[in-house]
Amino acid sequence: MAEVRLDQLRKEFVGNVAVEGLDLIIRDREFLTLVGPSGCGKTTTLRMVCGLEKSTSGSISFDDVPVGHLPANRRDVAMVFQSYALYPHKTVAQNIGFALKMMRVPKAEIDRRVAEVAESLGIANLLERRPKALSGGQRQRVALGRAIIRDAGAYLLDEPLSNLDAQLRAGMRAELKRLHADLSRTFIYVTHDQVEAMTMSDRIAVMKDGVLQQCASPTEVYEHPANMFVASFMGSPAMNFLTGELRSVGNERRFINSAVDQAVPDGTLDPVGREAVLGVRPEHVRVSDVPSDHSAPARLFIAEPLGSEVLLTLELGGELIKAKVEAPFRAEPDTPLHLTLTPNRLHLFDPAADGQTLTAP
Ligand SMILES: Nc1ncnc2c1ncn2[C@@H]1O[C@H](COP(=O)(O)OP(=O)(O)O)[C@@H](O)[C@H]1O
Ligand SMILES: [Mg+2]
Repeated sequence: MAEVRLDQLRKEFVGNVAVEGLDLIIRDREFLTLVGPSGCGKTTTLRMVCGLEKSTSGSISFDDVPVGHLPANRRDVAMVFQSYALYPHKTVAQNIGFALKMMRVPKAEIDRRVAEVAESLGIANLLERRPKALSGGQRQRVALGRAIIRDAGAYLLDEPLSNLDAQLRAGMRAELKRLHADLSRTFIYVTHDQVEAMTMSDRIAVMKDGVLQQCASPTEVYEHPANMFVASFMGSPAMNFLTGELRSVGNERRFINSAVDQAVPDGTLDPVGREAVLGVRPEHVRVSDVPSDHSAPARLFIAEPLGSEVLLTLELGGELIKAKVEAPFRAEPDTPLHLTLTPNRLHLFDPAADGQTLTAP
């Protein structure tokens, strides 16, 4: 094990559909991240995979063997929960070794494995402490150790970093990714944090309201989002959206609204007179104090220095749009500026079809 396969997986709590029609194959040894806003069905999905929650319908198989009828302890998975309740009266070593003790593994073997796992997580010096004498990050490592001490085909991790402060989280991201490489096992990772999803995953499955929106590599999801939801959820600050109309001008396709007249890439649909949403990421908006051929006039609302970059909020035809530019950038609010959108980094969406992309694949 293993490949984890979900077919038309569905979970309905009384009067509330948490997961709907979920088809997903998590490949053997892949790091797949389920990402989406709070309440979109990530935890429910993970709990169904590990057997803590029974699906309403659909099937789950590990390496083509259906496991839906098996209890959690008969599935070849280990899970790390968001609230990693450690046993308060047990030492770190006892916490980490607990699963093996339950499996009646001989003590010498448990000690050896606990030492090994503790070493790999950098907590070998804490083995005799109890949880209350540990920092948040140390407790997190113990929780991870408790899961990885078991040799499982798949490791399921539900927001394991969400209780850590930002700096520790960034450090643990790298460590988890390294752990995945070392263990060489299937990881299904759940987070609401798109940065974690982008930085750690082989593939990302983006969910909204219990429904899978797109499953692809981080680059693919970022550069070719399937719809406006994915486009705005992945990336920070979020992609800008401008509403307007598509027109054919000569043999060009143009996006036009009161402020913007912009050539756009070829798409899949007849553009004439069609309402459309133009998407552009803040890093693909260029800002100048002099107009150029296809620039659009805008006004600075406010500038926020981020260190090496400056985040600008600009007024463009009555809408606010964000641009990320290199530091230093100094200008007073209301300064007139001119925006150019990077032509080959534009996205078009269809507001009539739930914001599906109109950009050619
Ligand atoms: N035991 C439960 N009973 C009723 N509703 C639940 C239960 N668990 C989750 N839900 C609902 O299912 C939806 C998905 O929840 P969850 O899977 O926890 O989302 P996420 O992990 O993405 O935040 C939410 O609307 C949540 O309120
Ligand atoms: Mg959750």
